[in-house]
Formats: sequence, structure tokens, C-alpha cells
Amino acid sequence: MAGLSFCNAIGVVLLAVLAFPLCYTFIPPQVHEVKGKCAVVTGASTGIGVQIAHVLASEGISKLVITARSKEKLDAVAANITKHYPKTQVFAEKSDVSKPEDRTALAETVAKTFGSCPTTLVNNAGVESFLHMELQSAKPKIDQMIDINIRGLIHLTNDFLPMLIKSGGHIVNIASLAGKMPGIGVNVYSATKFAVIGFSLNLRADMRHRKLDVSVHCVMPGIVKEAGMADDMGKQIGLPLESITDLAGFSRPIDTANAVVEAIKYDHPELIVNSLPVWPLIAIHSIFPRWFDFTFELPLPSVERLNAWFDKVTDYQSQK
Ligand SMILES: NC(=O)c1ccc[n+]([C@@H]2O[C@H](COP(=O)([O-])OP(=O)(O)OC[C@H]3O[C@@H](n4cnc5c(N)ncnc54)[C@H](OP(=O)(O)O)[C@@H]3O)[C@@H](O)[C@H]2O)c1
Ligand SMILES: *[C@@H]1O[C@H](CO)[C@@H](O)[C@H](O)[C@H]1NC(C)=O
Repeated sequence: MAGLSFCNAIGVVLLAVLAFPLCYTFIPPQVHEVKGKCAVVTGASTGIGVQIAHVLASEGISKLVITARSKEKLDAVAANITKHYPKTQVFAEKSDVSKPEDRTALAETVAKTFGSCPTTLVNNAGVESFLHMELQSAKPKIDQMIDINIRGLIHLTNDFLPMLIKSGGHIVNIASLAGKMPGIGVNVYSATKFAVIGFSLNLRADMRHRKLDVSVHCVMPGIVKEAGMADDMGKQIGLPLESITDLAGFSRPIDTANAVVEAIKYDHPELIVNSLPVWPLIAIHSIFPRWFDFTFELPLPSVERLNAWFDKVTDYQSQK
């Protein structure tokens, strides 16, 4: 009897201690609005960025700047958003995140266009190349991924922060599951996404510590079907993504777009977007770092298919 009440007491104490983190993880209160505010989405000419722009418009963003390098595609995206969400004012701005002059020009244009409207910056533009790291011909691709995914994202954030701090707002960085765990041939890309996650978490801490009204969020999709870079790659090598998503899980561009809105509304520091839960794998890896040595070597058909897909993409992209 005494033993039971002791256990009960421990149970009650544990629940009380865990209630706060559990509540904030599974039923967080809504603390921000999207409607009537302003947003900038980079990499919004194709793939996931297009969907993020559409969903922000559907949520009632009043002014939306979409940006990328291809102006024609941006104009088409802007026209379609205007057609479906006429209340949102859409501006298509050609800009290359890897060029310093383009970044400062974009920040100036946006500051002028938005005035004091609370603003969300969605850092979505990114590129991916699978590489055999020993190839000397890989150098331009290594630099391109670092320049766009890390240097571009961090500097653009730096360019926007003065106006974001004044108006209040959000920064949503699109990282990847590749920023949480290793893959095959994804070496440099994964490094850039680990960097994005580290930058996001630290900038969030900085803003909170200095009581500045800018919240930072990181959204991490796994393999994305229907559009985007992984889907393009599957089509190029003739091995459909379906051959690997049974093991790795998948999501659609709309899921990442919805996660961006959810991250803002519920102030999530991080959101993983994938049909299968992957956090147990990440947790196991944190405790047993040798875990991934075995994962990729398991003699299972689904693992072999996954490795074959990644090998084929790596060979294909290394030849280009
Ligand atoms: N698809 C996936 O499976 C997946 C999974 C996890 C994470 N992600 C991440 O999600 C984000 C979007 O990827 P996606 O799949 O939608 O790729 P995507 O279809 O290749 O689109 C990439 C977008 O970024 C733009 N972009 C590329 N380089 C740029 C530059 N230098 N300056 C400005 N814009 C640039 C592209 O437009 P322009 O070429 O016109 O400039 C395009 O709009 C990326 O950060 C990616 O790493 C994707
Ligand atoms: C235009 O936008 C609508 C609504 O978001 C979407 O269903 C449709 O696929 C888009 N069309 C093109 C060509 O992107």
C-alpha cells in the first residue's frame, strides 16, 4: 500500500514537471496572427516556395513579396496568386540571394513597400547537389551550396533585421531533415542545412534574450513529392521517389507551407515535416552515435532501394 502511494506520488510529480513541455509541444496556444501582415518568400519561382506564397495569401497576408532569379516564372506565380487571392497585393522581385548587391536592394525595396507592417521573412531559396567528395570537379557545386544555402540566407537575414526589429515579425528558415541526420552523397548539402538549423536556434535565442519582437522558426521537410528538387531529381534519373518513400516517408509542398503558418501562429522553434515520425531516429542517434553506421547497412530491400536511389543521383550529378 505504502509502495503504491509512493509510486503515485512520483507519477504525479513527473506529470507536473512534464506538463509544461508536453503542453507546449503538443497543444501550444496560438500567440501570433498572420492575417493583415506582410511577408517575403525567397525561392518562390518554383517548388515549395510557390506553395508557401499561396498559403500565406490564403491566410490573408496583405502584402507579399515573392523573389527568385527567374522573373518570368515569378510573374506567372504572382499572377496566379492575384487571381485566387485578390485581397493580397503581390510583388515579384528578381533577386539572387548569393549576390550582396541584390540582397541589400531587396531589403530596401521591401522596407519601402511594407512600411511599418509587421513582416515575415521566409528564407526558402536553396540548392542541392549530391557529390562524390573526392572529385576536384565538385568545387563549384560546393561553393554554390554554401553561397546560396548558408552565406545567402545569413546575409539576407542580416539585411532584413533592422526593418524586422522595427516592425516586429518572424523569420522562417526552411532547412531539411538532412540538417538532422546523415544521408548518402548529401555531404555538403547536409552541412548547409545543419548550419541553417544552428543559425535559427541561436538567432531565436538572441532575439528572445534581447527582448526584440522577432521570432525565429525552422521548418524541416524530409523528402518532398509532387514538386521541388527531390521530385525533379527522381524524374531526371528515371527512379521515381516512390521507390524510397516507404522507408524515409514523404511530404507534399503544401505540408511545408502549412508548417510555415503553424510555426508562426504557435511560435514553434522547429517543425519537422514528414509522413513517418523520424524524431526517434534522431533521439537514438544522439545517445548512440554509431546508429547510422548500421542503418544504411541493414540487409533490407527498402534500405537497398534507398541506397540505390541516392547512389544513382550522386553518380548522375557528379558527372554533370
Ligand atoms: N524538395 C525537397 O525534397 C526538400 C526537402 C527538404 C528541404 N528542402 C528545401 O526547401 C527549399 C525549397 O526547395 P525546393 O524543393 O522547392 O527546390 P526548387 O524546386 O529547386 O526551388 C528552389 C527555389 O529557390 C530559388 N533559388 C535557387 N537559387 C537561388 C538564388 N541564388 N537566389 C534566389 N533564389 C534562388 C529557385 O528559383 P530561381 O532558380 O528562379 O532563382 C527556386 O524558386 C530549399 O531550401 C530546399 O533545400 C527541399
Ligand atoms: C494557381 O493557384 C491555384 C490556387 O492556389 C492552384 O490550385 C493552381 O494549381 C495554380 N496554377 C498554377 C499554374 O500554378
